[in-house]
Amino acid sequence: MTRNRRPYATVLETIGWTPMIRLNKVTRGIRTPVFAKAEFFNPGGSIKDRIGGPIIERAEREGHLKPGGTVVEGTSGNTGVGLAIAAALKGYKCIFTMPDKMSQEKVRLLKAFGAEVIVTPTAVPPDHPDNYVMMAKRIAHETPNAILANQFYNDANPQAHYESTGPEIWEQTEGKVTHFIYAAGTGGTITGVGRYLKEKNPKIQIIAGDPVGSILAEMWRSKGESKPEGVPYKIEGIGQDKVPGTLDMGLIDDFMTVSDKEAFAMARRLTREEGLFVGGSSGLITHVALHVARRADDPNALVVAALPDTGERYLSKLYNDEWMRENQLLDSDRTTLELVLENKSRHDGDTPEIVSVAPGATVRQALRLMSQHDVSQLPVMDGSNCVGSVSDWSLSAKSLEDTKVLDAIVGQVMDGPFPVVDVGQPVDSVAKLLSKSNPAVLVRGNGSVQGIVTRSDMLNYLMAR
Ligand SMILES: Cc1ncc(COP(=O)(O)O)c(C=O)c1O
Repeated sequence: MTRNRRPYATVLETIGWTPMIRLNKVTRGIRTPVFAKAEFFNPGGSIKDRIGGPIIERAEREGHLKPGGTVVEGTSGNTGVGLAIAAALKGYKCIFTMPDKMSQEKVRLLKAFGAEVIVTPTAVPPDHPDNYVMMAKRIAHETPNAILANQFYNDANPQAHYESTGPEIWEQTEGKVTHFIYAAGTGGTITGVGRYLKEKNPKIQIIAGDPVGSILAEMWRSKGESKPEGVPYKIEGIGQDKVPGTLDMGLIDDFMTVSDKEAFAMARRLTREEGLFVGGSSGLITHVALHVARRADDPNALVVAALPDTGERYLSKLYNDEWMRENQLLDSDRTTLELVLENKSRHDGDTPEIVSVAPGATVRQALRLMSQHDVSQLPVMDGSNCVGSVSDWSLSAKSLEDTKVLDAIVGQVMDGPFPVVDVGQPVDSVAKLLSKSNPAVLVRGNGSVQGIVTRSDMLNYLMAR
């Protein structure tokens, strides 16, 4: 590649010619080659850098934007950055409106470029005055010498991809691309790239992913017949509750719906397994690309997925386990009991792994043992078998009722044995087993009992996690 061999006049010249990188790990077991066009290499970290300059230049050419003017847009963030970079170089002001579901990082980022950012509610219908697009329209109308970038209806948006993203993919694959996978926010990318590639070779399949909750896939399937209602989802930048003017559905050969959970899981895998630090829409697009590649099952096919933006924009969201858990987007914990035992031995120091009592011991001895080791229950062990259990509250209740019980033998008054579970059991399933009538479990590994996990051990572990 000739990129970067010479100095550039401005940062705008560094937009585009992003690398195409083969996916090697997430594609394990799939014969069809899959390549990712890594759009986070653009200076503003996303594919939307490609449309900022062309939108502003068209407005200048058409005489709508004069020196000192203002660029207004409703943006999920990335278009704002693309516009802000071009506006910074050309000396325009920027005002952006953004739905409140977008990450804080994106708001701060736009402010860093000197833009004014107005956050609007996400959960309003598309024609509501507080909707971010409606509000941007109003501001553009009321501000002197201002234009609305209007990415959802501005033909400069798909045209930018027709002139840059499409030809780059054609050239980088030497015309061998057979499937292009993307999603639609404004539809600018899939429309511009799809139009260019189909002109080059009408057999190239253009396939879109869509988040569960967006109406686009359903509108495409029903050819506009049905009027589905959108519901909120977490992925940012793609899917819609209204078909944008910049999306040509006629270019799309297949649409596949993907959940937030599947998309985020794939984004995390791209980061951890391929070293590609990307956002949620990249995860969704790659999820679809792998499905398409598996279905094609053809080593001579060539699947290209474009990855729209960088993961840095989502550190507080999809790369934050706490946020993922709060939103039920992480699989239940796969950590095992072994970790609970380790946590316990770190805290207990030299306490023996398991304190137990024999069935022939007296209740008095059992109570003394519990108090000595500061535990509330004991397994009753006959050799290596757990034959019952005793707890301080049950033994003390019985002894207070009838003092002779203190000299009775444990075997006569004990409760049922503790369940025995394997050391490889997931923590979450064992936590559910622990209850008032089941205050502890014995943990078996390598054929013998290795330890005991009580309700308080489990709580200590969960609180430290
Ligand atoms: C993260 C992200 N992914 C995908 C897209 C969709 O691109 P397009 O608007 O060209 O359909 C956007 C658009 O803003 C985006 O921000």
